[in-house]
Amino acid sequence: MFLCPICRTDLVQSGRTLRCHNGHSFDLAAQGYVNLLPANKMSSKAPGDNAEMVNGRTRFLDSGSYQPLSDALNRTVIALAADSPRILDAGCGEGYYAARLYDALKAAGNAPDFSGIDISKRAVRHAAGRLPEGGFAVASLFELPVAEGSVDICYNIFSPVCAGEFARVLAPGGHFIAVYPAARHLFALKEILYEKPYENEEKSFELEELEIENRERLSYSFTLNSNELIESLFMMTPYYYKTPVDGSRRLAECERLSIEADFWIVTYRRRNGR
Ligand SMILES: C[S@@+](CC[C@H](N)C(=O)[O-])C[C@H]1O[C@@H](n2cnc3c(N)ncnc32)[C@H](O)[C@@H]1O
Ligand SMILES: [Zn+2]
Repeated sequence: MFLCPICRTDLVQSGRTLRCHNGHSFDLAAQGYVNLLPANKMSSKAPGDNAEMVNGRTRFLDSGSYQPLSDALNRTVIALAADSPRILDAGCGEGYYAARLYDALKAAGNAPDFSGIDISKRAVRHAAGRLPEGGFAVASLFELPVAEGSVDICYNIFSPVCAGEFARVLAPGGHFIAVYPAARHLFALKEILYEKPYENEEKSFELEELEIENRERLSYSFTLNSNELIESLFMMTPYYYKTPVDGSRRLAECERLSIEADFWIVTYRRRNGR
């Protein structure tokens, strides 16, 4: 299912080890995932979301506030999926969407061959725990350890979009689904954090390597009833890295927040001839 990150040939599992025919081997961790990120390609010792961020994300996602997004993703994938689809969650995080999508496909009688990739070892470990039936790897989205044309549906929720890599791994007739923030996404949170909040810029979401098939906007409101959940959501956002002290202080005092979720779900297909 994965490629050797050193020589780019197929990895074959035997027992708890994945091995390529050139003798490079990678052990499965106790939780069932594999680390395919060569040490010399790591920008830091523990790249991606750290333990606190992964825990915050799990707390927030399990509260159900983004379940409508997960349900919409599931509907989109189920409508596009052929029999036994090969699915890749590119930037799977802690596995919330992966586990729910797997269950939805299985319930629809179309159990997938499911893989997930993320650069955060903590996140991948959690994802492998949520979905033991899936294959999960620590790797970079910019150099996927995945064979050309081997994925039917690749999706990406709020993770870096490496369209060239996603187009490379898609099979003919394959689809890529991306979730992006729309204009009003989390505006009430920004109103607390910043003196002058701005709406997100509306973009065309065009990608050179892939052709847009469909755009769906999903907007709804939800309420967070504890500071812990509000802070958990904050930690998941890019604002976490660039909020003035005043804004963080105001958020620390907030115990209840009604807020808008506003997403674009954009479906792409490979361009002709690719
Ligand atoms: C905003 S989070 C989204 C995670 C998940 N899709 C979700 O919505 O819960 C972005 C994810 O991208 C991962 N990430 C960032 N840069 C990456 C890279 N170069 N390769 C793989 N994953 C990366 C982070 O570790 C993090 O889990
Ligand atoms: Zn190898």
